[in-house]
Amino acid sequence: MTTVTQTPQTDASEVPGADLSRPSSYYKPGEHHAPENEIHRLRQQVAASWQKEVRTLREFGLTTDADVLEIGPGPGYITERLLEEIPDGTLTALELNEDLIEHARGHLTPARPEQLTLVQGSVLESGLPDESYDLALARLVLQHVPHTPDALAEIHRTLRPGGKLVVTDVDDALWGLLHPQPDLPEFDEVVKLRIQLQASRGGNRLIGRELGQLMKAAGFTDIKVEAIAISSEEVGLDVLAPQLNVRSRTAAMVAVNPAAQRPCEVTADAMDEFLARPDASMMLVFFMFSGTKPAGDAR
Ligand SMILES: C[S@@+](CC[C@H](N)C(=O)[O-])C[C@H]1O[C@@H](n2cnc3c(N)ncnc32)[C@H](O)[C@@H]1O
Repeated sequence: MTTVTQTPQTDASEVPGADLSRPSSYYKPGEHHAPENEIHRLRQQVAASWQKEVRTLREFGLTTDADVLEIGPGPGYITERLLEEIPDGTLTALELNEDLIEHARGHLTPARPEQLTLVQGSVLESGLPDESYDLALARLVLQHVPHTPDALAEIHRTLRPGGKLVVTDVDDALWGLLHPQPDLPEFDEVVKLRIQLQASRGGNRLIGRELGQLMKAAGFTDIKVEAIAISSEEVGLDVLAPQLNVRSRTAAMVAVNPAAQRPCEVTADAMDEFLARPDASMMLVFFMFSGTKPAGDAR
């Protein structure tokens, strides 16, 4: 994939016409033309990387009796795994999109009814109580949230002193790697258009490089980072293939920018060809950051 080291206008406030009134650059209910594809993509993404992520979560301080706050659980596939990980704890999952909450409710089976609470709302104004959680997890969410410092301040408020925030997110400079790399200017254009579309809705696909600084500025200490890399040789190309479903992921781009249609079509065809190759190989990379709310930081 393309290497994005510098992209104009990734900060939403610098994007002409950026819609900063949205609480999220992610799809609203009814906005995705094929929500089942998106849910499948997210489910496969969890299947591919959970084993590595949970090891890192434990290393960052997740215990079996923790009170956990999950921000933006979406369809609930991380939620499902987290519930297994905290048999003696509780999980509060705060999600903006009511359709996804209903999807999650449909398949989640907590061991005890009080183990899981699903809450509809935004991390920018959660309404959740002060100092109530031992660990908060925001996985692939902050890239969608405008005013990230406000979101981090809200999470900080809800954590107990000594509590941990874990942020898992991407940076499009290193989101994914393909081999053999298709040599296509259209491909690079699609990556840039995707960054720009997300920024125009208040999001930031290059947030990975900023997360440590943002967490520190929000008052978190003891900042740590791990990279989670997943290879198709490890988990199977079929598990990673939904990430390359360009047709499903670019419809929103074409809807707001008809000029994106051609590069999206060329790229979608190239991805089909790539996935059909017997020697196709792919890697995904996530960053996992952890920070601690200092014990002296009571509200
Ligand atoms: C890419 S999905 C990730 C879902 C899940 N965390 C995962 O890793 O599979 C992003 C999720 O964050 C939610 N989200 C985005 N902005 C939010 C906000 N301001 N408050 C709460 N949830 C938000 C979206 O609705 C969506 O469900």
